[in-house]
Amino acid sequence: MKKVIVTLLVAMVTLMFTTAAFSTGVASLRGDKELTAPADENPMRKQVITQGGVERSYKIQPPMIPHKIDKETINLKTNTCMKCHSEKTFEEKKAPKAGDSHYVTRDGKVLETVSSRRYFCNQCHAPQLDASPIVENKFEGAK
Ligand code: HEC
Ligand code: HEC
Repeated sequence: MKKVIVTLLVAMVTLMFTTAAFSTGVASLRGDKELTAPADENPMRKQVITQGGVERSYKIQPPMIPHKIDKETINLKTNTCMKCHSEKTFEEKKAPKAGDSHYVTRDGKVLETVSSRRYFCNQCHAPQLDASPIVENKFEGAK
């Protein structure tokens, strides 16, 4: 009987300690947040405007985006990039037209509207931030 009581006591004390450890949160790379809590969001950095565009590092590189895109939307229903970069609008908006390659399907068919292969523009074209590189980069493009 005594043995049973001791075992029960030990079990209860262990349980108390383990619940305490979980509820105070364990400090890890994501801070001392509860395991179930979301991590901190990355701080929003300002996108920058690059006058004259960003030089390409190699011939067929998707050019970097020289303007801000934080107000643009690309989803199933709408693609606001094409308000300026489409065949119909580029002249009026004084924007470069998305290349002819953007209208070709994988089977080589030329479409009237941008091909689904090129629909999600920021898959290839990236806006620029004013941030210093985390590691030094000695890459030199072959022009
Ligand atoms: C309000 C009109 C407008 C919208 C909307 C717009 N752009 Fe642009 N974009 C321009 C203009 C104008 C330029 C020419 C450079 C400049 O003046 O910023 C340009 C330049 C670019 C370039 C550089 C092309 C090169 O040859 O260097 C890329 C890439 C680009 N835009 C991609 C995008 C993407 C992707 C989106 C949507 C997320 C977008 N743009 C939305 C007007 C627009
Ligand atoms: C799969 C990658 C990819 C996607 C997605 C993509 N592009 Fe491009 N884009 C490129 C490449 C590569 C080039 C350069 C060669 C070319 O024109 O095909 C380019 C060139 C451009 C240019 C410059 C054209 C010129 O003549 O200088 C513009 C503007 C542009 N893209 C806009 C867009 C817009 C807007 C979207 C979304 C509707 C988009 N791109 C989606 C890869 C992509």
